[in-house]
Parts: sequence; structure tokens; C-alpha cells
Amino acid sequence: MSDPVATSHHATAPIGDAPVTLMLDGVEVTARTGEFLIAAAERAGVFIPRFCYHPRMKPVGMCRMCLVEVSGPRGATLQPACYVPVTDAMVVDTTSEKVKKAQDGVLEFLLVNHPLDCPVCDKGGECPLQDQTLAYGPGESRFVEEKRHWAKPMPISDLVLLDRERCIQCGRCTRFAAEIAGEAQIDFVGRGDQIEVGIFAEHPFSSYFSGNTVQICPVGALTASPYRFTARPWDLEQVESTCTTCAVGCRVAVQSSSNRLTRLLGVDSELVNQSWLCDKGRFGYEAGNSDERLTQPMIRGTGRDDVLEPTSWTRALSTVAERLTAIRSAKGPGAIGVLGGARLSNEDAYAWAKLAKSVIGTDSVDAQLGDGLPAELVLALPRATIEETCSAKVVVVLAGDLREELPVLHLRLRLAAVDDGLPIVEITPCPTALTPDAAATLHCRPGASPDVASALVSGGASPDDSYGETWNAALAALANAGDDGEGLVIVVGRASLAEHQGVVAQAAATFAAAWPKARFLPALRRGNVMGALDMGLAPGLLPGRVTLDEGRDWFEAAWGTVPAERGRDAVGILAALADGTMDALILVGSDPLSDFPDRALAAAALQQAGFVVAVDAFTSPSTEHADVVLPAVTAHERGGTTTNIEGRVTRLGQKILAPGQAWPDWMIAAELAELFGADLGANSVGELWDAIEQVAPSHAGVTRSVLESPSASDGVVVPLVASRVRIGRNRDAELQAIDPIATPGIEAIELQGAPIRSGFAQASGDRFSAAGNGEDVLVAVASAAASTSATSPTSAPSAAARPALISWPVVVSEMHVPPADSYSLRLVSGRRLYDDGVVVQACESLAALVPTTGLRSNPYDLDRLGISTGGRVRVKSARGALVLEAIADPVVPRGVAVVDFNLAAGDDALSGAADLVAAGEPVTDVRLETA
Ligand code: SF4
Ligand code: SF4
Ligand code: FES
Repeated sequence: MSDPVATSHHATAPIGDAPVTLMLDGVEVTARTGEFLIAAAERAGVFIPRFCYHPRMKPVGMCRMCLVEVSGPRGATLQPACYVPVTDAMVVDTTSEKVKKAQDGVLEFLLVNHPLDCPVCDKGGECPLQDQTLAYGPGESRFVEEKRHWAKPMPISDLVLLDRERCIQCGRCTRFAAEIAGEAQIDFVGRGDQIEVGIFAEHPFSSYFSGNTVQICPVGALTASPYRFTARPWDLEQVESTCTTCAVGCRVAVQSSSNRLTRLLGVDSELVNQSWLCDKGRFGYEAGNSDERLTQPMIRGTGRDDVLEPTSWTRALSTVAERLTAIRSAKGPGAIGVLGGARLSNEDAYAWAKLAKSVIGTDSVDAQLGDGLPAELVLALPRATIEETCSAKVVVVLAGDLREELPVLHLRLRLAAVDDGLPIVEITPCPTALTPDAAATLHCRPGASPDVASALVSGGASPDDSYGETWNAALAALANAGDDGEGLVIVVGRASLAEHQGVVAQAAATFAAAWPKARFLPALRRGNVMGALDMGLAPGLLPGRVTLDEGRDWFEAAWGTVPAERGRDAVGILAALADGTMDALILVGSDPLSDFPDRALAAAALQQAGFVVAVDAFTSPSTEHADVVLPAVTAHERGGTTTNIEGRVTRLGQKILAPGQAWPDWMIAAELAELFGADLGANSVGELWDAIEQVAPSHAGVTRSVLESPSASDGVVVPLVASRVRIGRNRDAELQAIDPIATPGIEAIELQGAPIRSGFAQASGDRFSAAGNGEDVLVAVASAAASTSATSPTSAPSAAARPALISWPVVVSEMHVPPADSYSLRLVSGRRLYDDGVVVQACESLAALVPTTGLRSNPYDLDRLGISTGGRVRVKSARGALVLEAIADPVVPRGVAVVDFNLAAGDDALSGAADLVAAGEPVTDVRLETA
């Protein structure tokens, strides 16, 4: 009632395993020690009205709407159910006369100044104040005085508007900002009837998480500017889906009206986003409605100044097939490269992998654009879930600022550090949003992380004098993990695109070698990059986390043919196109001119390529170079599945139809395959998933029915492994012993009763127990088909041995990092959440929030190099030069220069850090001179 999509109830008091029994409205109810009465009652089916209570925040007992009668030694007293933990033998009455009178009074007072402008309020129709006034209110008011008036609405941020007279001072928004986001940028100001939610004069409400305050506001006091006045709740249709704006994979409710996306709300997935979203995910739907969408196939005209002109699908596809066939005949399949795939669903990615690797025959396929991590490393490292990361004994973050790239992962880690004392050791070039809550932050110049990793695993002396006591703090934090890395999770990402991915890989490999029981959580940012890698969209890989060599027999049996040799990665593909070794490029939702770290190489490749196809939902700088453009669907316009950083497969919900003639990516692949005289073997998204389940070894056992079962509402982490068990929240119920190893025939995942949203726990031994009471239940588990052993699944297409999954160790080559000279600074170029990328730019509300970039350096370095703050500085690398504003920033460590990667430097959208970076170089050194 109060929160339509927050379904999980997470009391913030310490919850014990011991059951307590209480009498609730005359019925005996079992609850857990420490659980708040309001949550225990709700689980027992008794809804107690509330405003300030939110299951994901600490209770404050501010609104008094939840008053109930609790009998104690001094008789029955009214107590706030959101604030009182259950105790054994407690006697509670939620419907007594006294309670009813209290509810009448609270609502009568709340409405004294409330404007009752429900007909024009966004919240009207889904408002807890409306609903609870009708259900629990007095029916009429004794207050006839003029109501308080404020100017309205008042923008408190670029995305959030405040109608102060609607506010009931529940403090949900202010508590969210302080407690959950850790950004106390809004608070109450004033006293008495003049109290209002306010912002600080010098500090704007600029949080990346501001939209959550709108969602949890129990009245229409906070509204989102992209949604305000666009729809009424009863006009909206909704499906549950997964946000694919980044790779956290938050669960969302997608709402639309008249085939137009109108709103995204966070769904409470206990294991992933716990109801929260970032603003890019929440408001990014605007891009789907934008005029930048590609709506019809286009082909480069002949004889009319080479412009792209609309054409039919038939002509566009046949042109692509004819040109690629000719190039393949002349130069071999290796002359054709495919870049991209992280925008796709798993089913799309599988179709494109089969088209590229089996039908066309090229292994030069890469879903990452030189801005990620080596695919084999990512797939081979033992993976942690987000839940395991947050409940680890210690976490190392070998990455950049997670708030900029994977915002809700940042939120989860911050909460784990602040609320649960999780020690976090950061290895990062510059301070991040996690730094204030980290146990230790080791600022690490580009190229230096392998040395820092070596010193950490040896527990020896600090490799850098500047670390001082921080080094000891890092070692002390790491001592929480076992000598073998038990209890340690390493979040590994790419802090800077001006540093070669091999440097990070080397540091990660050092940790993996020294701490064999450590687990890794890849911090790769693009929507479905993990799904694309799982589906084999990388050189040397095939679907299901198997290498080309290991999986050759299996896939030849399944597909007919696979490439004879390992192909090129993104750097190799672009270099080979630039020097004429390769001839054709297929861009599948990728824009190398904007996203590849070395723009000069990307530009040369696109210019030299004999034939370029772009399959995309938006126009981009790179689509301008295409000979044929094929319009594709995008988020919320397709079904299927996606995979997040944990390897968690969740379902996508199609909410609207794509505009114009845009097609699903898998269908484009299927049509092209047919023109090549082949058949992808699947005619629907569902059939593609069946093929994935049968063919991709990492996905064995994850059938459609498993994915669609209520127990998979939080998704399914692949591969299913026999040691991973999911335990229902209610541990008090009758215990049931399960031994998945000794119990043959346990079918994948099973659920009895209501969906559970609970943590994964590792089985401690051969046997373990899971709880079940028929309602909030168990379970678990695994299937023999999911094991990685070389057995043949009955449903597999051949008798060939199922290939083993890629596993650690894999070969990681050593990078030679040249020493820095004293005249140069080492370039750090990380990404920002709001950027000049096509999605943000196509999104009216977010495009206005894109910051400007400059060159940020420590004042010491700028002084030393004779550069004045605020002046224009020429930044020169071996690759190119840029003129930027010089910004002295004391938080930037000495010796580095920071230029944000994906922000335009100046008026030219295609001028920025990518002009300074040379692909293949371990680091980028820059020199500064006054411009
Ligand atoms: Fe509560 Fe909304 Fe007022 Fe914030 S603005 S205090 S969430 S009613
Ligand atoms: Fe979407 Fe990522 Fe934001 Fe979650 S963190 S809402 S997945 S963009
Ligand atoms: Fe309990 Fe507000 S919900 S006091």
C-alpha cells in the first residue's frame, strides 16, 4: 500500500534466529527476535498503516500512523509498531477502539495543512495518504481554518520538484539521502508549521540517486520532472524487467501509456538493488522515446554525395549479405570483424555469436571496445555475487569510482561498510565516493597496481612512501581474510582507459595466484557485457564460457562449424581494418568513435574499412560511417534475458513496441543467416534460450521453466553449482535437510510457496539445511547437468563431450610499464555517469546534467610545471594534443593528470581524452604547457 513495488521487509534491528511467539489480534504468531512489530505483523498478514516506516531504512517513529496497543505490565499502551521489536509473549491489538481513535487523530492532523489537490497531484491514485485516509481515517475533519500555502513547485534538483504543502514530514527522503545514499544534501529546515524539506544554499541536491526519494515519498510532495503531469497511475501498464543501462542489473517496474515509456520504478530485489535505482537507470528510458532513434534501414546512396538514404529491409539485408559474401570469398572470413553486443539480450548475443562464428566464420568478434578487461580473465576468475561481496570479511576494490560506473553496486558496498563494518581496501588512482567509508585507500598511479598487489600479497613493506599509515591499515584490513584468501572478494574493473587492461589483469592475477580462495566481482559497466561474453562475443570464446579450442568438437556437432583460429580483439580488429588486413566491420550497438580509448585508431579503421554495417537503436558518430544502417530495438522493447556482473540471469519484460521498422537484434541475425544459406535453428526468443540452455555449458540446467519459476524472481546465477544453496528467510520453520550431492534428481531450483528474496549461502559441508514453512521457503539447488564435468546432457545436440568451463588460471602477460619522467604526468581517464554517450544525449533530462571537463591536477604539480589554475593548458601525449582548462584539485594525487574520458573537451563532441591515448601502450604520459 505504501510502496507498491517494495515487497521485501528488511528490519534494521539485529534479527536473531530464535523464534518468538506473540498474540496479534487474538491470533498466535511466530516472529524472529529483534524483528519490528510492523514487519512481523505484515508477514502474518496484518497490515498496520504507516508513512515514515520503510523496510530498507532505520525506523524513526515520526508519523505515529502505526500506533497499536501493546499490553505490558502497566496495561495496554499505544506504541509505534515500526519502532518496537517483537518480544516473547507480547500481546498486540491493531484494531482496538484506542488504536482507531489514534489513527483518526493522526490522519486528521496530517490533513490540517494538506492541500487535497489530489486531482492534479502525480501521486493521486497511488497515494498512501489517500488510501490510508480512506481505510483508517475519520471521514471528516474538524479543522476549517485556511490551509498553509507555499510557492509551488520548488525545484530541489534538476530532476526533483517539491510541493511543500503536500509534505507530511515523514523524513523518508531525508533519511534516504543520509542513510542509504550517504549524501545528506536535503534535510528539514524551519520549525513547527513552517518546517519544510530544504536544500543547502551552497550544496545542490546533486545525488545520482535522487529519484529514489520521489519513489519512496508517501505523498506527492516529491515529483520527478521527467514524469510530472505525463500520466495518471490508472492509465499506466506495467511489466517487471531488468535495467540494462549498466551491468548491475537492477530490477525495475517499467510503466508505459499509449506505447510510450513513462516511468521506471525500483523493484525490491533483495540480492541486487534492494529497491534502489540510480537516476541514469531510472530516467534513461527517455532515450527510447527520443527523436534520435533509428526507425528505418538506411543505405549509403551511390552517386549522390554518399549520403545514407532510407531503404527497405529486403534491400538493406541483401546488400549486407552480398557485400560480406564477396569480402569473405576474396579475403576469407577473417577479413570481417564484429564489434559490440553488450546492448543485446542474451538471446540476441547468442544469435549474433552463431552468425559470426559459425555462419560467417570469423572469430574476430569483441563485445568490449578496448575499454574493459580481458574476456578470458573475467570468465575464468572465481566469481562472487553482490551479496557475497557485501558479506565478505574484506573487500578489495581494484577499480575506479564505482558510483560513476555501477552506481547501485556502490550503494550496496557503502551500506555494507557503514552499517555492517565491511572493511574495504581501495586500489585506485584518485579518491572515490567510497573513500570516506573505506578502511584504506591506496592511490595508485597508472601502471603501479601490479607492484601494489605484489606487496599486499606478501604482506611486506609499502611500495610507495606516500602511503604511510594507510599501508598498515590496508594490511590490517586484509588480515580479516584467511591466508588463502578465504572471505576476501576483489572487485576488479578499469579505473582508467589511459592504462592498458593488461595492467589491471596482471594485478588481478597476482591476487588470484596468492589467494586461491578469494573471489572476484568484475566491475564491467556496459548493460549486458557479461551476457555477451558468456555468449562468446569475444575472440577465442564460444557460448557457455568455453574456449574455442576446448569447445570445438561440441560446437562443431551443435553448429556445424566454428572458426579454425582465434581471431582479433577490438584493438586488433581496428588496427587490421586501418592497415587493410581486414575489410569489413559490423557494429552491433557499438560506437568506437566515442567509446574506444584510442580515437585516432577507431577513425582510421572506419575510414579504411571497405564495408561497414551498423546495427543500432540510435544514430552515433560511428553510424555516420556505415554503408548500411539497420535499426534495432532497445531496452523495454524486447523480451528475453540479461546477465549482470554476478552472472545472474534475469528476465527482461517487453513493455512497448519499437518505433518504426526497428527489429529485434536476433531477428536481424536470423535473416542474415538465411541469406547466407544457413539457419540459426531458432524462431523465437524462447527457442533461442532453449538452444543456449542446451548448448552453452555454463547455462546447462537453467531451463525456461527454471527462469520463469517464482523462486527465480531475483534471477539465477550461472553456472548452477552444487555447492550453492539459497536459503529462505524464515529459519524458524521446520528444518529440512538437503544434500544435493547425495540426492540425485534434485531439479535445479525449487520453490514451495511465495517467492523468496534471500541470500545465497555457501554450503559448509556435504549436508546443509534450509528452512521452509510452506510460505517463505527454501531452496536450492543444483542439478547434475549443471556440473562442469565432462558429461553429455541428454538434451544436447550431440554425443560429443560437454566442454569444461574456462577456469583459473589463464595466461596473463606481463606488462612492461616505463618509468615516468619528471616533466610528465600520468594520465587518468575514467568514465562519468552522465556523459556524451548517445543514451544520455538522447535523454532530455539527463543531457542537461553532463558536467564539463578540464584537466585536473594536484596544485603542487601545476605550480611545478608553471601552469596557472583556470588558464588554458595544452595537454600533449605521444598520440595527440588537447587544449583544456587547468583545474588545481588537491584531492588528485601528485604525479597524475585527470581528464574524464567520455566528456567532450570544448565544442567538438569528438574531442577529448580518447585523442591522447594510444591503444596498446601500457600507460599514457602527458606534458602540459600553457596554451
Ligand atoms: Fe516525507 Fe515526502 Fe515530505 Fe520527504 S517530501 S518528508 S518523503 S512527505
Ligand atoms: Fe540501472 Fe545500473 Fe542504475 Fe541499476 S545501477 S538503475 S542497473 S544504471
Ligand atoms: Fe511508525 Fe511512522 S510508520 S511512526
